[in-house]
Order: sequence, then C-alpha cells, then structure tokens
Amino acid sequence: MTPRRWTVTEELNHGQTPATQGSRIDAYVDRYAARATGMVASEIRALFAVASRPEVVSLAGGMPYVTALPLDMVGELVSDLVTKRGPVALQYGSGQGDPHLREQICDVMRLEGIHAGANDVVVTVGSQQALDLITRIFIDPGDVVLAEGPSYVGALGTFAAYQAKVVHIAMDDQGIVPESLAQTIYALETAGAPIKFLYTIPTFHNPGGVTLNLARRQQVLDICQRAGVLIIEDNPYGLLGFDGEPMRALRADNPDGVVYLGSFSKTLAPGFRVGWALAPHAIRDKLVLAMESAVLSHSSFTQLAVGQYLTTQPWREQIKTFRELYRERRDALLDALDALMPPEVTWTRPAGGFFVWATLPEGLDSKAILPRAVAERVAFVPGTGFFSDGSGARHMRLSYCYPEPDRIREGVRRLAGVIEQEMQLRDTFGTGSVRDHLGVDTPGPDLA
Ligand SMILES: Cc1ncc(COP(=O)(O)O)c(C=O)c1O
Repeated sequence: MTPRRWTVTEELNHGQTPATQGSRIDAYVDRYAARATGMVASEIRALFAVASRPEVVSLAGGMPYVTALPLDMVGELVSDLVTKRGPVALQYGSGQGDPHLREQICDVMRLEGIHAGANDVVVTVGSQQALDLITRIFIDPGDVVLAEGPSYVGALGTFAAYQAKVVHIAMDDQGIVPESLAQTIYALETAGAPIKFLYTIPTFHNPGGVTLNLARRQQVLDICQRAGVLIIEDNPYGLLGFDGEPMRALRADNPDGVVYLGSFSKTLAPGFRVGWALAPHAIRDKLVLAMESAVLSHSSFTQLAVGQYLTTQPWREQIKTFRELYRERRDALLDALDALMPPEVTWTRPAGGFFVWATLPEGLDSKAILPRAVAERVAFVPGTGFFSDGSGARHMRLSYCYPEPDRIREGVRRLAGVIEQEMQLRDTFGTGSVRDHLGVDTPGPDLA
C-alpha cells in the first residue's frame, strides 16, 4: 500500500479524508513541487490510445518509418559491438559524449554549412534532452522564452516544466515573421521582461511544415544579435528535404549566438536516443555539468552503435532512401487533400520533414472534432497542443511519415467526411462556444 502521511486537515476532520484531497488517486497530491503542476497529461491522451488501433488511420504520430532501415545490418552491428568492444560499450562514458562520435557529428553538420570542432559538441539523449538541459541552465520561473506559434509540443512541455513563460511569435508559410519577432522583443524589453532565448525550428517545422527562407534567416540572426537574444536552433529534420541541397543552418552564420540541436532520430532511428547540442564554449561547459547531474553519462552502447553505423554503413544513401519514402507520402497527403478537402480548409505544403499544418474553416474546433474523427477511424493532433496560450483550435497537424500512401489517402477521405459534417452542423446550429483551453496538450512521445 502507498504510504501516506496524516494531514492537518484530516486531524481537524477527525480522521475523515476530505473528498477534495483526491488522496485515493494520488496520496502525494499536496506535496509536489510547484513546477510539477504544469506537468499534466492531456485529456486527449486516452483518445490516442484508441487511435493506435490498426483500423484507425493515424495522421497523428510523428514516428519515423524505421522499417525502411536494413534491420539485419543493425542487428549484426549491435552484436559485433558487444563481442568486439563490449568492455568499452558496456562501461560508463564521459559526460560530454564519445569523442569519436562527436567528430562524426561534426561531419554530419558540415552538410548544413556548419564548421565546428568536436570539443563544442555535447551528446545527449535525443535532442529532447538537449532541450531540457538548455532550459535547465537558462530558465528561472517566469523567464520569457520566445517560440514560433505554433511550436514543437515536446519543447513546450519542457518549458512548462521549468515554469518558463512562452511568448509566441507569428509564423507564415515562409517561417517566423521577422517583424513580429522584432516587435515582440521590443515590447518585452520595454516592459522589463528578460528574454532568455528564442527557440526556433527553422527547417521543415514541427508542426508547421514550413521553412524559414534565406532572406529571413539573415533578418532573424540580425534581430537577435542586435537585441542580445540567444537562438536555440532545433533541427532534427534538416537533412530530410525533398528538393536540392540541405538549407544552411542559422548556426553556420553565427557560432557565438546560436546553440544548435541535432538528432539521429529521424536520419537513423529514435530508439538509439542519440542527439546533440553544439554550443559556444561557456554554454557547452554548463551543458556538460547539467548532463552529468542528470544522467552521469549517455549510454556508451548506443553512442558506439551510432558511431559504428556512421563508419561502416552508407548513411548518406540511407538518408536518401528516407527522403524518397517521405516525399512519396507527402505527395500522397497533399494530392488527397487537394482532391478531397472542402475548399474552406487550407494547409501548408512542406518541402521536407514529416508534417502538414491544416487550418479549418471559421467556427470549427479541431479538439472537439477529434472524437468524431476517431470514431470514423482517422486521427490527427489538434492545434491546441502546439501553443502554450490555449490558441490553435482551428488548426490540426497531419503527419505523413508513418502510414503507407494508400492509408494516407483513405485517412484523408475519412477526415474530409468528418469536416464536411462538422461544417453542416455549424451551418445548422451556429458555432457554439469554443471551449476554454489552457496548457499544453501533450500527446505522448510517439505522437510528438
Ligand atoms: C522539433 C523537434 N525537436 C526535437 C525532437 C526530439 O527528438 P529526439 O529527442 O528524438 O532527438 C522532435 C521529435 O519529434 C522534434 O520534432
């Protein structure tokens, strides 16, 4: 049985536990740190459990299609690692990460115009941990973080956990809007609110599906440099572009003002949980200390496995295979949307990555529609999960990374039917009131 201390209120109530304590659900409800109050599972999680049933077409999940990897090769590689390098692979490693892997990470980043030394790289448990460490070293409760609106749900969850105040910056089909960034920084400075950093996903945005164009990249760098705002550039999808060469990273043009976050989750496999941060020296030192206090060191085993993969396998070819696969699925989604959606619905046209961001007609609420969509055997992530201020109800994220093209088309057919019905209901009964919503709708890691 769970131990529970007698509370003062219970003493006063002669041992009767007041219903409001909720103690049968959680005996420790009144003892959590203030920061844990922001950590709440969203009510849509339960729906996503249903949505993972095979009959439901999930356009919700952000899971890479790891089946496209040669899994026999991965098996051999892992088994070789144990037999040939077991004593190192199964031992603790350094807090900063395996030095050879850090060199290899620099080779990967060179594809995006970044010239960096392995000494400035910290290997992390996915880029998600890098986000956590960055937030841990910079954020006191109430500090301001700037982020695109919408933004990555996992980052918003981390910012909430450290009690940051997220201020969203407008984004359009060319990425973050520089004028909105400049105005927001000015307004916050004038109000005396310290901005700790801008968190941005400039390339193949999650969930926006848009990419910051070249001219705006320079403007964003200039605005932040003038205002002394550090940029956190989160770039897990940068090598998954469908046309031409990879975009030049923001970090390539400002080594001192940008912390770059990278990951092997989308170009190899998320199960290895290997990501990294590339940071100016002083920030790197803090990150290593924060890493050590969090986990002592990353798994030597998975770091060496990724290093071995990069050394022995044609990883650039594998990325090309992923790109072609995702391009075919992106085309399937966009073609189906063009053919089947009511004309009042609009959406972005991604040139890479995993996601399309759709906007519903006036008066429709994506979170309210989700149960009906799941009943019709199709799922998506409602837009409210991607804003920290409760907005986004008219939007939804559709991902094309996981289902086969035929399933994607079927999913869109079902979704279009649901949206048409909702529009008819709206026309018959009016819009009703859109429910108040605050907080981040965290849908869980497989959907992030
Ligand atoms: C924008 C963005 N950043 C970070 C992550 C975290 O990735 P990982 O921790 O697997 O590297 C994700 C995962 O979906 C993401 O979409």
